Order: sequence, then C-alpha cells, then structure tokens
Amino acid sequence: MKYNFDEIVNRRGTYSIKWDGGQLIKTIGLTERYDEDTIPLFTADMDLPVPQPLIDALHKTVDHRIFGYSVFPDEYFEAVQHWFKKRHDWEFKKEEIVYSPGTVHALNVAVRALTKPGDGVIIQRPVYPPFTSSINANERTLLNNALVCDDDGYYSIDFEDFEAKAKDENTKMFILCNPHNPTGRVFTNDELRKLADICAKNDVLIIADEIHGDIVRCNQTFIPIAKAAPEHADKIITFTAINKTFNVAGLHCTNVIITNPELRKTFNGVMGMHLPSPFTVSALLAVYHEGEDWLEQLKEYIDGTMEWAVDFLAENMPKVKVRIPEGTYIMWMDFSAYGISPDEVHDRIYNKANVLLEDGKMFGEEGLHYQRICIPSPRPMIKEAFERIAREFEDLK
Ligand SMILES: Cc1ncc(COP(=O)(O)O)c(C=O)c1O
Repeated sequence: MKYNFDEIVNRRGTYSIKWDGGQLIKTIGLTERYDEDTIPLFTADMDLPVPQPLIDALHKTVDHRIFGYSVFPDEYFEAVQHWFKKRHDWEFKKEEIVYSPGTVHALNVAVRALTKPGDGVIIQRPVYPPFTSSINANERTLLNNALVCDDDGYYSIDFEDFEAKAKDENTKMFILCNPHNPTGRVFTNDELRKLADICAKNDVLIIADEIHGDIVRCNQTFIPIAKAAPEHADKIITFTAINKTFNVAGLHCTNVIITNPELRKTFNGVMGMHLPSPFTVSALLAVYHEGEDWLEQLKEYIDGTMEWAVDFLAENMPKVKVRIPEGTYIMWMDFSAYGISPDEVHDRIYNKANVLLEDGKMFGEEGLHYQRICIPSPRPMIKEAFERIAREFEDLK
C-alpha cells in the first residue's frame, strides 16, 4: 500500500496536545501566542496517519465492545523480539522484556529504583529535558558530559570528561540518548563500545533511551548499545517503544529490556504492576507484524522533507546553521549568526510567524541560541512554517 503523507489531517478537537493544548502550552511557558492560525511543530509526534494494519487492528478491538483488564499474550513478547532481531540484529530473551506505560515514566522509575539520593547521574546535554528533571526531581546529582559541537554543527562525545565523571565513586548511572534528541547523532559502534567500557570499568549503570532508533536516515544504521557491547549487557537497561516509530504516543507502550534479573526485580518492585490496555496489545502486534512497509515509506518521506528544509534554509535563511541529522525526525537549528538575542529569535518565530517550536535553552544552556523543530508533518505544512519564519528574518538576511 502506498501512503500519501502530504495529506493534511485536521487534528483539532481530538485532544491533541499540539492542536488542542493551547492553554497548557501557554501555562508551561512554551509560547505567549497560540491561536487557530498557529502551526505547532514543537512536540515529537507526527501529523501523519498511521499504518493501515494498525487502524484495522484498533477497529477490531473497538468492535469487541468490552475493554476490561488485559494481559500480554506470548505473541506480544515474540513480536518485540522479532522486531529487534529483524530490524537491528539484536537478540534478548522474552523474560527480559518489561512493559511500562511510558518512557519518561520508566526513566524516573529507573533513577529511583537503581540510585540513591545524592548519587551522580551523567547525561549529555543539550538533551531531552525530562532527563534533567528525572535527576533533579529525584534529588540525584546531575553530571553534564556536554556534547561538543564543531564548526559544521556535528556533535561528538568528550570522552576525557566522560571518563573523569564516571571515575568519581559517587557516580552510579549514565543516561544515554541514542539516537540523540535534539542533536540527531546516531552513535557509532566504536563510540558505544567506548562508553560501555568506561561505565563497566567504573561500575556505572547505563540507561539507554533508544526510542528514536527505528527512525534514522535511509543511509544510516542504528546500533543498540547492548548489541555493541554484549559483554556488558547485564549493566545496561534499554528503553524501546512503538510510540515514536509508529506515531502512537497516545497508546502508551514502552518496552524496557533488562537482562540482569536482580536489576529487573528492583525495577519492577519500584514500578509496581502495570496491566496493558487491549488497544496497546493489538497496536503493538499490528505494527511489529505489519508496519515495516509503512515505516520504510515514512523514512523516505522524512529524509525528503529534511533535504527540502536544508535547501530552503541555505537559500532563504543562510545564517541558520543546520545539518541533516543522522537520526530522529528532529532538526536542531543554530540562530547565533543573526547576532540577536534568543528572546528576539523567539519573538520573531513564535509571536510574529506564529510557528510553535521549542527554544533550545530547554535542552540545557548549550542550546541557548538554538531552535528545535519536529518535521514529521505533511510537507505542505512544513513548507508554510519555514516560509513564515523566513519572512520574519528577511530584514536580517
Ligand atoms: C528521547 C526521548 N525519550 C522519551 C520520550 C517520551 O517518551 P514517552 O512518551 O514514552 O514517555 C521522548 C519524546 O519526545 C524522547 O524524545
């Protein structure tokens, strides 16, 4: 089946945080302006319809007319195993899969269950904000191994600093984001092995948030860290999910891979029992069994939108420094060459162009001059957003 990702589906009136969440968005301070003309490209969900087999499976669940407590059939775990073996050549046992209703939820459970107040936890900023809050809100000590950005906007790891932080005996955990949100890096086998070796040597547990792993550029390969360093797998906990890959964040389905039985027991003890919804089970089976065709088309579409965006910016906003990321459907744009304050950049984009993005400072001070845009929306919508923004920067070209 061929999907038409250019189709604009009206999401207003569907309880969408992007399209119906104006009041909340203003309250949390993301923007001052939000109205019916706003183009919201801030949060990481897609304005694109999901695979047809998923729609059919959910219809079938609705037609049962009863939505009681559900269980995970064996098929569920087999589908997860099959997906990761087929797509990423990574194998794990059925009993190592732990369901969680959300990745941020699982992250907080991991921090609470597997570290103590005051323990050091390493993250690599700029990074997805809930990494920071999982540490601060649980009163652990944040250790920032900031990624280093070169003149071409390419980020790499400062291993010397990482090792120094890992060596501190107070350091107990490292939260890896791979593919990395917002920089879009997909770390190489060598980088992952190096990180895992340093952590193993210093008894630092790795929490690997890999939920963007299915969406990398068509010419890129994503490697799970537990596959890159199998000898350290019992000191790695990996978050996987169907939510980013298949645009089902609202169905709450994260699968945590915990090889070490002791860690699994401790994690489960703190998380407590979570039964799935029948929609979650049928959704996972549908996408992992029959969603690949859609995913391949989606990846090509996203690659195409990114190529268009980079060309558009080069021609119309050449001062914006941006590159096509190796992974994720996120673009990370550096506005520093305009020589205006981050507040003025914000005002021109959010209030004047009426496009809602995310200010880079949310990802840590390293992101002060950046804006993050999520581009998995119909290309006509993305084009309009970029055109509106370009008009507001025309005088500074
Ligand atoms: C790296 C990363 N982890 C977790 C999440 C959120 O996942 P969930 O909705 O399962 O909590 C996001 C969403 O953007 C993300 O980018």
